[in-house]
Amino acid sequence: MSKILVTSALPYINGVPHLGHMVGCLLPSDIYARYMRMKGNEVLYIAGTDEHGTTSEVGAMKERMDVQAYCDMYHARHAKTYKDFNLSFDFFGRTSSEQNKEITYHIFEQLDKNGFIDERVVKQVYSIDDGMFLADRYIIGTCPHCGYEKARGDQCENCTKVLEPTELINPKSAVSGSTRLEVRETKHLFLNLPKLEKRLGEWIKTKEPFWPDVAYTIAQKWLKEGLQERCITRDLKWGFPVNKPGYEDKVFYVWFDAPIGYIGITKQWADEKPAERSWKNWWLDAKDVRHVEFMGKDNVPYHSITFPATLLGTGENWTQVDYLKGMSYLTYEGGKFSKSEKRGIFAEDAVKEFPADYWRYWLMSNAPEGSDSSFTFDLFAGVVNKDLNGVLGNFVSRVLKMTSSKIGDAVPAGGEMTSAEKELTAVLQTRINDYFRYMDEMEFRKAMNELRAIWVEGNNYISITEPWTVIKTDSARAAAILRVCINLIRIFAILSAPVMPTIAAVMLQKLGLSPEDMPSLTGFDVTKELDALAPGHPFVVGETLFERITPERVNELKQKYGSKK
Ligand code: MF3
Ligand code: ZN
Repeated sequence: MSKILVTSALPYINGVPHLGHMVGCLLPSDIYARYMRMKGNEVLYIAGTDEHGTTSEVGAMKERMDVQAYCDMYHARHAKTYKDFNLSFDFFGRTSSEQNKEITYHIFEQLDKNGFIDERVVKQVYSIDDGMFLADRYIIGTCPHCGYEKARGDQCENCTKVLEPTELINPKSAVSGSTRLEVRETKHLFLNLPKLEKRLGEWIKTKEPFWPDVAYTIAQKWLKEGLQERCITRDLKWGFPVNKPGYEDKVFYVWFDAPIGYIGITKQWADEKPAERSWKNWWLDAKDVRHVEFMGKDNVPYHSITFPATLLGTGENWTQVDYLKGMSYLTYEGGKFSKSEKRGIFAEDAVKEFPADYWRYWLMSNAPEGSDSSFTFDLFAGVVNKDLNGVLGNFVSRVLKMTSSKIGDAVPAGGEMTSAEKELTAVLQTRINDYFRYMDEMEFRKAMNELRAIWVEGNNYISITEPWTVIKTDSARAAAILRVCINLIRIFAILSAPVMPTIAAVMLQKLGLSPEDMPSLTGFDVTKELDALAPGHPFVVGETLFERITPERVNELKQKYGSKK
């Protein structure tokens, strides 16, 4: 058993998450956390809302709300959506918490004490029409590196280069569209990354064998280009006031306290039950913790360079990321998800249309790993109808109905096993080992592909053995076949549980079992598991597992959520 700390990038509080957010970090982290728990590990799974910054100020302004009230409202909305999506966080917290403030202050003080914080007078963009300094991402213009015209002042989403807003060509305010911008002087604090570069480079080298290509390549590219000082304060009201004399009217930059939020949120979790939980056991001088982070690829530089450097600069022994899973993007019906253009299905609507497990399975089997992937309602319906309904659902209902009508509502007794079961056992064990290996490696598409192939083996077995024919001449043999099939249902439920926890529970329920009865996935032995449900064990046929999605329904959904650009 090991201690595994799983984190998902903390979603910005403003706005509600769409399917791209779900598949980019929240869902894969949940599936990984569930899988690791099922292997018998001690898992702590942490996420929360990323609340500071101008986005929240502007969002609150637009909805005519006080920023705190705005964040409270959206935090609750995020929390509900993720609960509806069956995300199994141990704690879903907030970067604006007192706990996060405390840890942010501590980390800042350490960095300052160790000489990694510099004061600089900087020129910053002030929007005359908006009456405020504009946060980097609220200035848009042309990227000086790749020419992309809608680059934001903090980062170009096209070439992923991190930018200073003053580098943008033809800048304008994203708040009002105004081009009446002027550069004003103001004093700010900078994190001296160049001074930390050597140590960071050495640290990253120790990670090489464990980091997936994308993350390692992005980090190496940054190091090669040389690190620059990063401004960690802002002229805003909403944020943690800077705890340094002369800077009281400024706040920390959202990207400074956001990743610290992983730690702050862990402390929120621990503070709920201080007698039994310790945040330091996971984060500070913690022993044997493996930290796995999930995020969209635009977040990789912050998690592989800036945040690790911040922690290194404290001189303290913080838990650093061991494995960083970066995901590409999901597109919607051939374009971008866009809230303003009302294109794309948002997570809170998605679960009103279909059970969360349908989405979970679709999204993970089409996860944008390596390259972008695309969501369309046609693809979604295809997978639900074919994989879920046609393969898994059909197997379960066929087996239970046939057993019930021909033999009775319990696992049948008697009959001999043959070479067909030997082959089934061997094939399944190989596939299951592959499935586990892909899950361990966080290759989710491949893992889902293997899971599906495992379900298909059930249908193959039943087509080869033909219990409906055999029963006419050899009822004992038919009983043996159906006993194997019912045990397969239990195995399929267990293996599907990380991705489809509710469906898995329903499958188990048909067999009079609950998720607590599931065995550890470590050392999962097919021969043994095929014997788990003994003759006489009762079951109920119950409802079908999945609904079919008709072409009419697909058209309705396209209308409702927008199609074509
Ligand atoms: N809020 C950021 C985003 O959605 C992610 C922040 S990750 C954190 O892109 F760890 F820094 F919080
Ligand atoms: Zn660019």
